[in-house]
Amino acid sequence: MPRPIEIAPSILPVDFAKLGEEIVALETAGVDRIQFDVMDGQFVPNLTFGPDIIASVRKHSSLPFEAHLMVLTPDAMAAQYVDAGCQRLIVHAEACTHLHRTLGHIASLGAKAAVALNPATPADAVAHVLDLVDMVLVMTVNPGFGGQSYIATMEPKIREVRAMIVAAGLDDVVDVEVDGGIGPATVAGVASSGANILVAGTALFRDPEGLAHAVSDLRARAQAAIAG
Ligand code: DX5
Repeated sequence: MPRPIEIAPSILPVDFAKLGEEIVALETAGVDRIQFDVMDGQFVPNLTFGPDIIASVRKHSSLPFEAHLMVLTPDAMAAQYVDAGCQRLIVHAEACTHLHRTLGHIASLGAKAAVALNPATPADAVAHVLDLVDMVLVMTVNPGFGGQSYIATMEPKIREVRAMIVAAGLDDVVDVEVDGGIGPATVAGVASSGANILVAGTALFRDPEGLAHAVSDLRARAQAAIAG
């Protein structure tokens, strides 16, 4: 049974002066979850926001929140993001000396654990932790900024990760998420390769027909690609 398609907006393009209203608008537009791009200026060359910002908008939405921790020290920060209201924490395999332990720590906090792979990191990096995650994020850009160009050579890696999940008998419980350059022109490639959670920022906010159209169009294009 193919995993359901979900739209997970990145909040990087929003007007942070009215973050609460933007979160409400995203929920109204029909997104399935909200992804907060947490950056520490060390793991990636950009700095965004801490747990207090997420906590400040938690009351504005009933949707699941996930923190994409593009940080060097995810173990030290995990509890703060769970306390802020995130149901899922995504850590980078490249930032975790003991990835297996980190994912278990996230679960011990009562949150869902997910692991992200930068473009140069092979799929094998998650081969021995698939039983500890509910999602693998295959980055389709080098992390740090929105609005970057999609890296199409990630599609074989998406297929490889999905195949590993199927081979482990986890295809009913583990999702494949993609993040970076996802939009109308690229969604068919990732969906047909096995991704089912689509992170998008620029493509959602630049649609001239508005957020709701962007969300429904992206979902429809992904579903059509899967249907073949
Ligand atoms: C990379 C960022 C972006 C953002 C979405 O670190 O996390 O991938 O979420 O970017 P665009 O604007 O390409 O959808």
